[in-house]
Amino acid sequence: MFFGVDYYPEHWVYPYGGSADAPEARWERDIELMLDAQVNVVRMGEFAWGLYEPEEGKFDFDWMRRAMDLFSRAGIKVVLGTPTAAPPLWLAKKHPNILPVDERGLKRHEGTRRAYCLNCDVYWDYSRKIIRALAEALGKHSQLIAWQIDNGLGGHGTEASFNEESRGDWHKWLEAKYATIERLNEMMGTRFWTQTVTHWNEVPMPMVGPTVHNPALIVDWQRFCSDTILAYARMQVGLLHEITPDIPVTHNLRALSRDFDHFDLADALDFVAVDSNATIKTRSAELACEIDMMRSLKKSNIRAPAGDCGFWVIEQKAGNVDWQDVNSLVRPGVVRLFTYQLISRGASGVLYFLWRQPRIGSEKFYGGVLTHDGEGKNRTYQEIREVGYEITRLAPVLRNTTVLAETCILFSHDNEWNMKYVRQPNRNFNQREHLQLFYNALHDRNIPVDFARPTEDLSRYKLVIAPSLQLLAAGEADLLKLYVQNGGILVATCNTSLVDEHHIVPDKGLPGNLTDLFGLEVLEFDQLPPGEENHLTIRAPLHATHLHSARIWCDIIEAKGCSIIATYAKDFYSGRPAITMNDFGQGKAVYIGTISHQPFYHDLVVWLRQMSNIHPLLKVPDTVEVSMRQKDDTKIYFLLNHQNSPVRITFYKPMHDFLTARTFTGNYDLPPHGVLVLDEQG
Ligand code: GAL
Repeated sequence: MFFGVDYYPEHWVYPYGGSADAPEARWERDIELMLDAQVNVVRMGEFAWGLYEPEEGKFDFDWMRRAMDLFSRAGIKVVLGTPTAAPPLWLAKKHPNILPVDERGLKRHEGTRRAYCLNCDVYWDYSRKIIRALAEALGKHSQLIAWQIDNGLGGHGTEASFNEESRGDWHKWLEAKYATIERLNEMMGTRFWTQTVTHWNEVPMPMVGPTVHNPALIVDWQRFCSDTILAYARMQVGLLHEITPDIPVTHNLRALSRDFDHFDLADALDFVAVDSNATIKTRSAELACEIDMMRSLKKSNIRAPAGDCGFWVIEQKAGNVDWQDVNSLVRPGVVRLFTYQLISRGASGVLYFLWRQPRIGSEKFYGGVLTHDGEGKNRTYQEIREVGYEITRLAPVLRNTTVLAETCILFSHDNEWNMKYVRQPNRNFNQREHLQLFYNALHDRNIPVDFARPTEDLSRYKLVIAPSLQLLAAGEADLLKLYVQNGGILVATCNTSLVDEHHIVPDKGLPGNLTDLFGLEVLEFDQLPPGEENHLTIRAPLHATHLHSARIWCDIIEAKGCSIIATYAKDFYSGRPAITMNDFGQGKAVYIGTISHQPFYHDLVVWLRQMSNIHPLLKVPDTVEVSMRQKDDTKIYFLLNHQNSPVRITFYKPMHDFLTARTFTGNYDLPPHGVLVLDEQG
């Protein structure tokens, strides 16, 4: 296990730290405090370009080498960022064309981080130069165990830039995809509003216009922007692999929230790293969902530091963030609880953002491990120090253990972009909220979940849930059929396969290419305004504990061979199927033609898990979160109490807790925010 902090040594030199005689003296004190908290890794330098290269071509890596040498003496490892997320001001001055342009055509000016366009060749050249210089200067340092490329790619809405260089690249991308103008016109459906083109350079970028752009063009533009980010990342990874082949490369991603394909980017990296904003989540399942998403990005070919598997949380917020309307403090015990939640779901490294609250710049009041005074008497430091000792004890037990899931939720960025940027039948339909309803129900039953793209090999899963894949490629639909054909249990929902990968609606019935799989056809879909609801009449084998409603979206279904599990209770489609199940090959395909409230999904999961023979990890009260990491015969259970009150747990067999070295049998009251790390050896 790596346990560490994000450290900015450049913030802590004279006059902000140290003294006139010994400007860097504070670094030594920081290292003492880090050692006392069991820190064994720091991430540094991801915004340091302006200090590495204060003038074009004049490099200075010595200050960072001195910092790394100090860490070397302390035995603390280092992850270095390539500093391209914050280009120096001289670069924008000399080459203003590196600056991004927004969808209104306005330049986004220099003076902040991320002020660059990824389609700019000049920016690529300068990026290569600084990365090469950095890797040659510090890449052989004994402490270096990983690189982080850039920082927060796509952050601050910089996934797209609408400048002329992007336009040129966009046209080349389209040409590579469609090969001929005729094909582009045909596949993009440009006859609509006669937006047909005769030359590649006529194809617009989706900039602000009087009304909406062609959805096919919008989705392609998102794919192009994603490919641009991917290409830039691959350039950085390739260069680092060439200069320092033994050092794995990562990037700090967020939970599928930026506009690029996170799975593609994870493919390009040696291991995945994540920024976690756990502290702002109100429901433990929301954070768990994000962590599972991130763990799922890279399921094989992982090359993490020290030969471990899993992913890193390279920025776990140590305290409050500074960008919400109200930035509340993180309550005592909660940073520890969240650290365990991350580890329980597969993290093999956790680093807190940030070591000390900065005295300068725009993130001064971010919660840090240390407060501004840097003394280490503050609450957060003391809490994290305790966690550090616990993690040191747990590290050997956790090494190379992984999270295994038999259930999978499907997600695709193409679909996400389509839902986000294309006009929708119902503005109140939210894909993420829909997905979260399923996730929460599984989470609350302590059933481990992976996420996957529909193109992945799904055969390892007993149960696959596909919430509202409105844009589904024909090939993806075929793979879903194959999965069920071979014995899988698939659950799909309303708003599935309304358009294919070219954003063309099928003319052979909805859901496109899947009517035989589900044994039904969706004839129409009704949209319900907020507050208006239909009701479900549910029959066995699904058991309803409540009267469940149907809201937002109601598919009007004609059964064509499927069995009917629920019908609508009112309106002109009263009595029509709302939920169905169909035998297909060796498997079963369940279709849920509407959206309900959370209790429905809890009932649904009871049925689905019986049908697919999936068992919760442990029997505990609902409010306790359980996850498990395993390797061979070793199974390590994590029990987390997210409540402010104790929860009584009954152990039916003796369980050994690694944190307290106690063995529990019978009743035990897990304290508020308490954590147990157990195995069955008793
Ligand atoms: C991260 C970023 C950090 C810091 C943080 C604030 O995405 O990498 O540098 O700005 O956000 O939330």
